[in-house]
Amino acid sequence: MSSPALPESLTGVGVTAIGMAMIRARETARPDHLYQDPYAQAFVAAAEREFQDSSADAADVWATVGRLVEVFYQGRTVGVRMGDDSLREAVAAGRKQIVMLGAGLDTHAFRLALPSSVHLIELDVPELFAFKERVLADEHATPTCRRSVVPADLRGDWSAPLLEAGFQPQMPTQWVDAGVLAYLLREQAWQVADTITALSAPDSRFGFGYIPLDAMARRVQPVPGAARIMPGMTTQAAEQERGLGPDAPERLEQTGWSTEFRELAPIAASYGRPLANPSGGGSIIATRQQDAGAG
Ligand SMILES: C[S@@+](CC[C@H](N)C(=O)[O-])C[C@H]1O[C@@H](n2cnc3c(N)ncnc32)[C@H](O)[C@@H]1O
Repeated sequence: MSSPALPESLTGVGVTAIGMAMIRARETARPDHLYQDPYAQAFVAAAEREFQDSSADAADVWATVGRLVEVFYQGRTVGVRMGDDSLREAVAAGRKQIVMLGAGLDTHAFRLALPSSVHLIELDVPELFAFKERVLADEHATPTCRRSVVPADLRGDWSAPLLEAGFQPQMPTQWVDAGVLAYLLREQAWQVADTITALSAPDSRFGFGYIPLDAMARRVQPVPGAARIMPGMTTQAAEQERGLGPDAPERLEQTGWSTEFRELAPIAASYGRPLANPSGGGSIIATRQQDAGAG
């Protein structure tokens, strides 16, 4: 998800994360907004300055991100609100430890008024935090809860830096796949899921997107430049090769999780934002059984 033609400070920042910031900035500006992210526009503006000061090639990438935002706005903005609702639900149910995998440029710790008893841990690649922390400091942003960042690659050993950041494996955890697992190759995505299982106390929850990747590939294929920004995601093979796959609930249930599917389309309609092209996607919420023990 990086390109050597991007501005150096943004190399390695998933440009998809900038696309998500654009989506949140657009939503925040709407009078009927589903949520507010007061920092989204600052990320977009800072990224745009760096793209404009860079190569013509970077300007092309910027234009492609804008085209992808048009394709994804409707579904992803509802997804952001759904994620916010799940976090509020988790905190109301007493969960105090949240881990966001592929946290990107979202600012839950700052914008959801989470209580100080909550520890929210964001994990993403180091280059993303180099950019994100700089913009947050410029904005004098202060989290309402305890916030830690873990600069790590999910394809390597991320559990050691997570533990160093103060993660407590004996506490029930709210794990959130913030949109990264679908980009990983299937084996890598399952290595992440197996690590989550091993680190999950009973009653932990793991929420991840179920995205029919073949339907998504059909939508993004015609977007010029999309294959560069979403490598591996614009072909029909993505469904077989990427993410946890359609049988993820069954596989998790074999290792001590129970699962529930929340379809995006009816939830979008309940927010007054019916989807024009429902894909059948949504979120799977897995709950670690009381008698499961450590994975
Ligand atoms: C689609 S973005 C979503 C970000 C976030 N949900 C948001 O709304 O801003 C995916 C994120 O996954 C991160 N990512 C991609 N590959 C990763 C990896 N191997 N390890 C850790 N993070 C990764 C990217 O840097 C990016 O921030």
